[in-house]
Amino acid sequence: MTPLTYFEKHKQRFLDELIELLKVPSVSADSRHKEDVARAADYIRQKLEDAGADKAEICPTQGHPIVYGEKIIDPSKPTVIVYGHYDVQPPDPLDLWDSPPFEPVIKNEKIYARGACDDKGQMYMHIKAFESLVETNSLPCNIKFMIEGEEEVGSDNLELFVRENKERLKGDIILISDTSIISNENPSITVGLRGLSYMEVEVTGPNRDLHSGVYGGAVENPLNVLCEMITSLKDADGRITIPGFYDNVFELSDEDRRKLNEAPFDLNEYKSDLGIDEIFGEKGYTTLERTGIRPTLDVNGIWGGYTGEGAKTVLPSKASAKISMRLVPGQNSSKISELFSQHFQKIAPKTVKVKVTPHHGGEPAMLSTSSIGYQAASKAMEEAWGKEPIPTKEGGSIPIVALFQDVLELDSILLGVGLDSDNIHSPNENFGIYNYYKGIETLIGFHKHFAEMAGSK
Ligand code: BES
Ligand code: ZN
Repeated sequence: MTPLTYFEKHKQRFLDELIELLKVPSVSADSRHKEDVARAADYIRQKLEDAGADKAEICPTQGHPIVYGEKIIDPSKPTVIVYGHYDVQPPDPLDLWDSPPFEPVIKNEKIYARGACDDKGQMYMHIKAFESLVETNSLPCNIKFMIEGEEEVGSDNLELFVRENKERLKGDIILISDTSIISNENPSITVGLRGLSYMEVEVTGPNRDLHSGVYGGAVENPLNVLCEMITSLKDADGRITIPGFYDNVFELSDEDRRKLNEAPFDLNEYKSDLGIDEIFGEKGYTTLERTGIRPTLDVNGIWGGYTGEGAKTVLPSKASAKISMRLVPGQNSSKISELFSQHFQKIAPKTVKVKVTPHHGGEPAMLSTSSIGYQAASKAMEEAWGKEPIPTKEGGSIPIVALFQDVLELDSILLGVGLDSDNIHSPNENFGIYNYYKGIETLIGFHKHFAEMAGSK
């Protein structure tokens, strides 16, 4: 039997198993879900073992565990390291979900659940591709799995794990499905990811909340100040005003920009999908460039004062915001965090005190289209999707990709098959069953082509 026939035969079970995994609320950011996160790790460990791994273990960390598994068929053959994550984003706001986030339902050929696409569904494709290869005696290469539970909170413990396990993690390529394609008609392979600096700021005015009538007009309002400070971080052309922010930003050649803009993109569809009348972004760049190759600054949340029902007249003592900056090649996350802190302190008026705290961050990544790994991925995708994929740059971040380059000196292949419409990190996250199955097919093909191409170098 071929791996593809095996897959066809077991398709329904492959889906049922994913649905079981999606029922586990493995929210890494929420300590109330610690046990659930551990339960998801156990489930994956068991499934790796069932699929044919020689070894599948739970590696405890200071935070959530890493699941490690491997099957070494012949040390002289190429080795693929699969990375994925089993943790998910918090499901809030719950009232915007059409069905509960951890009670998966299938509607319009899509599975709806938190983590369906990011990344349980995409990660699980690898385990099922592996099973299909092992069960048909067709595994053409060695394979190592490293599935973490802290991707959505910065992968700090994975970084330590990678640094401490360099020997165990020897291999030829990292394979990841945690990104998107342009559309099911236009398959693509991601070759660029943005980095991230994430800051929390707190602006303090008077030593306590005040009556906004008794004191209003005479004492600075930290919420007003915070809004002004944030507004000043971008100019009318959408450029970020922090001194030094654009230093070393990697600029694409005209030719590369032209190629990037050849990717199918329909602005009207984009706007109508988002329910907006007009787009906004840095002057002089297209939408694909704004998300693919340009850095950004965005407020992710802002709070202070009274936000409950009705009206309360209050001049708040404190105001806070969470601000993220997406970074591109040439920028460095700690340097940008430092520049932000200095600038934010500097622009604060004397009427308030400012505290800036950096959260987790990560470096951007750039990948080659001429590597064996890319070629194998391209061939596998073309076979499964019926069209040659085009390379794309995506705006999201997978900080561990740059770390793999740095510590293991290994490039990653980003063979994700999600769609922008999958609502990752949003209510009603979903993953097309078509994409789940095509993904498994693609991964089966990848192992075959990569082993052939890398084995004969
Ligand atoms: N899967 C995403 C990253 C992604 C999404 C890449 C879409 C490309 C296209 C990943 O799980 C994620 O959300 N990462 C975080 C990283 C952060 C928590 C350090 C992100 O991008 O916000
Ligand atoms: Zn993800």
